Amino acid sequence: MEHEEQKRIWEEEHKAPLVLLQMDSDKVSSSVEEFFLWLKSKRSDLTKVIGVEMCCGKGRNTNWLAKQGIHMSGLDFSQTAIKVAKERAEKDSITQAQFFVHDVTESWPFKDESQDFVLDCFGSTDIESGELRQKARAEMLRVLKPGGYIFLYLLSTEDEFHKEMIEKNPAHDANAFYHIQTGKYEKTFSEEEVKNLFPTLKVLEVKRIKKLAEFFGKSYNCQHFWVVLEKQV
Ligand SMILES: C[S@@+](CC[C@H](N)C(=O)[O-])C[C@H]1O[C@@H](n2cnc3c(N)ncnc32)[C@H](O)[C@@H]1O
Repeated sequence: MEHEEQKRIWEEEHKAPLVLLQMDSDKVSSSVEEFFLWLKSKRSDLTKVIGVEMCCGKGRNTNWLAKQGIHMSGLDFSQTAIKVAKERAEKDSITQAQFFVHDVTESWPFKDESQDFVLDCFGSTDIESGELRQKARAEMLRVLKPGGYIFLYLLSTEDEFHKEMIEKNPAHDANAFYHIQTGKYEKTFSEEEVKNLFPTLKVLEVKRIKKLAEFFGKSYNCQHFWVVLEKQV
């Protein structure tokens, strides 16, 4: 699949949400709320914390974290999504969030070791090749301060809806599929894959979040990965 095609499909999805209705919401992901509580237990003054969300979509997480006092940036390659994210920030008088139309598989607009954390909430899940996911991971590591955290929230191979999709319409690489309606690529991760994503980082937390998620009016069991990693000082 071509990168430009995945980008085009996302632009359409952001303009007229069809498959991933959750991504249109302005309600923060419960996974990010949980990460925030975790972070609060580690850092006493959150107003000094600088974070970035890769693949931030319409900014539900980036804006919410900025509201809590963190200096946030959000990156997404969709012009439509970033426009909405900025409008939502303005409407809620959020001044500590900045947004960039940016492809996360290219060099990020931040200095080396400038961020206290990097958030990946269903971002890697949507990058359509192993090589490009590796490029994004290299940038996550480059911009992260020593002692900083990477938070990952990822689809898993145990997620019911996605399992069904992989059986019906598998993609070119492991544990991934193309959406039947839109052709959009999506990847789930096995435990083994998650373990090998960032071999140089210390694993602080790995949990499975069991919940129900709705797709096309039907509820499915999910067991997403909730992971926090630390870059060594
Ligand atoms: C599943 S959504 C998650 C959005 C957001 N993190 C949230 O939780 O609401 C995935 C997002 O990744 C973006 N995306 C996919 N590939 C990208 C890339 N290479 N660079 C930047 N954004 C990308 C899409 O536009 C989409 O907004």
